[in-house]
Amino acid sequence: MRQPLVAGNWKMNGSKASIATLLDGIKAGLASVEKAALVVCPPFVYLEQVAEALRGTRIALGAQNVSHEPSGAFTGEVSAAMLKDMGCAYVIVGHSERRSYYGDTDLLVAKKFAAVRAAGMKPILCVGETLEEREKNVTEAVVARQLAAVIELEGAAALQDGVIAYEPVWAIGTGRTATPQQAQDVHAFIRGRIAAIDEAVAEKVQILYGGSVKGANAEELFGQQDIDGGLIGGASLNADEFLAIGRAGR
Ligand code: 13P
Repeated sequence: MRQPLVAGNWKMNGSKASIATLLDGIKAGLASVEKAALVVCPPFVYLEQVAEALRGTRIALGAQNVSHEPSGAFTGEVSAAMLKDMGCAYVIVGHSERRSYYGDTDLLVAKKFAAVRAAGMKPILCVGETLEEREKNVTEAVVARQLAAVIELEGAAALQDGVIAYEPVWAIGTGRTATPQQAQDVHAFIRGRIAAIDEAVAEKVQILYGGSVKGANAEELFGQQDIDGGLIGGASLNADEFLAIGRAGR
């Protein structure tokens, strides 16, 4: 049985003050979330503040991106070892915003996955198709290609050290959620691809759904057989919404 996981991707939002308020709100309602593991992924500059505020709670800390390089002359970059040092347990890699605005390729994402894993943290590997790709009926090919890059570099067994997040690009920040069946179909496809190589890994790996998840639609999404929780953008900036999502599902 896979434990449900709900991760908040705060993206480039927040301030010291707003983050303090948000975390107070989440901590105040934390007892109502019984089953799901919770993670919050603030911008790099707030990691220390958030790590401090989470101390002694069961909420884990995550980051939104990482360099694939271990250290050295890479101005503006942050290494996996630094994130581990700050107390991160999870790191998002391959978010569609990184892929589309900052040129993160499948290979670079695979190298980031490897760097996070080597540092002893869990990569949250994002995959997903654009609207154009869905309309061309190439969703499965796109997701398979994104997954294959990691499997080729690290092997399928490496996936059990991480988490996969299926985030259809057309559902991110648009208010247009994939239907539970659309999401389940892609989640089952992903699990099937992994099972074809290693059934035990496929059974174990958590596959999250992301894209306009809210308290109001989380129950139905997370009720699907292959959906093990969510990667939450906008709604994770609101404590009550984030907690409601945390309470949803299996
Ligand atoms: P929204 O929940 O705002 O659609 O964002 C989803 C996402 O990109 C999480 O990584």
